[in-house]
Amino acid sequence: MSDLFSPVTLGSIELSNRMVMAPLTRNRSSMEGVPQDMSVTYYEQRATAGLIITEATPISPMGHGYPLLPGIYTYAQIVGWKKVTDAVHAKGGKIVIQLWHVGRISHPSLLNGETPVAPSAVKPAGKAFTFNGLVDYVEPRALDASELPGIVADYVQASKNAMKAGFDGVEIHSANGYLLDQFLRDGSNKRSDIYGGSIENRARLLMEVTKAVVDAIGSDKVGLRLSPVNPFNDMKDSDPQAVFNYVTAQLNQFNLAYLHVVEGGIHGGGVADPFDFDAMRKLCKSPYMANLSYDKARGNAAIANGHADAVAYGVPFIANPDLVERFRQDAPLNEADSTSFYGGTEKGYTDYPTL
Ligand code: PHB
Repeated sequence: MSDLFSPVTLGSIELSNRMVMAPLTRNRSSMEGVPQDMSVTYYEQRATAGLIITEATPISPMGHGYPLLPGIYTYAQIVGWKKVTDAVHAKGGKIVIQLWHVGRISHPSLLNGETPVAPSAVKPAGKAFTFNGLVDYVEPRALDASELPGIVADYVQASKNAMKAGFDGVEIHSANGYLLDQFLRDGSNKRSDIYGGSIENRARLLMEVTKAVVDAIGSDKVGLRLSPVNPFNDMKDSDPQAVFNYVTAQLNQFNLAYLHVVEGGIHGGGVADPFDFDAMRKLCKSPYMANLSYDKARGNAAIANGHADAVAYGVPFIANPDLVERFRQDAPLNEADSTSFYGGTEKGYTDYPTL
């Protein structure tokens, strides 16, 4: 019987085990969005994960929403990432890059003075995380439909850049209240054109992005992440089950390498809506990657009972570079220090001890 330590193949990516390092924002790149040497070390240290999904990585300057994010749209960024993928591959690991556009979750000070863009001019509650600390969000500018092909093209170029940088694939970030999720959910999408209103219309941009990326680099190298009920970033929807069952069924046409699902609210956010993740899983014809607060026992159970083909672990991989070995041995885990999650030095980044 399969468990977390059994190999699995996701599209063209062969994993030696089913423990995936979830995407984790760490804010330690250069001002130009280039991954630094300490990030090469950080990812290399975690190469025994069956698969690493990088921190969310902007596809364009307008995709940025926090300080010191790495990008994947300049030559220097590609060169920086190539050092990461070479180091992970040299250790026998696999790594995909998470492609990100933050939409309204940004601030003009992070966008050379530009106003953040979104499906609709709906300002999120909460504060933007900027170089000057936390500041109120601004009302975003609603994207004109004529601008959307440019955003699709940015995803395509970022995917091609990712191939040049040596990644095993890409993960399209359509979760957690960022641009593609803002289109999907009706709390943030108030459009009256073919990209708003019906569920089919709200899912249109995601399907266009997915088709274009699949056409560019091959479906066996493309995963996708959804978070049906995550309230983070002031997100809501009037009928999440209908939206995400539809999206899951539609995505089947692309034969994706995997579907990655955040099964609740992140950052400790509670979830108001009941949601049947098993129903979504049963609709999904691609390998299913489950995420959120799994431990070893629940991870093994999810694989044994067919709920998941792989399980993504976030915070445990921050604090335990050798998480796979620790699970194997039932060894104690290091505690993560949340004060060093976002930004800083090697401290709390590359200095967690192995067994
Ligand atoms: C975060 O920085 O808090 C963050 C970034 C990307 C996500 C979720 C959370 O998908």
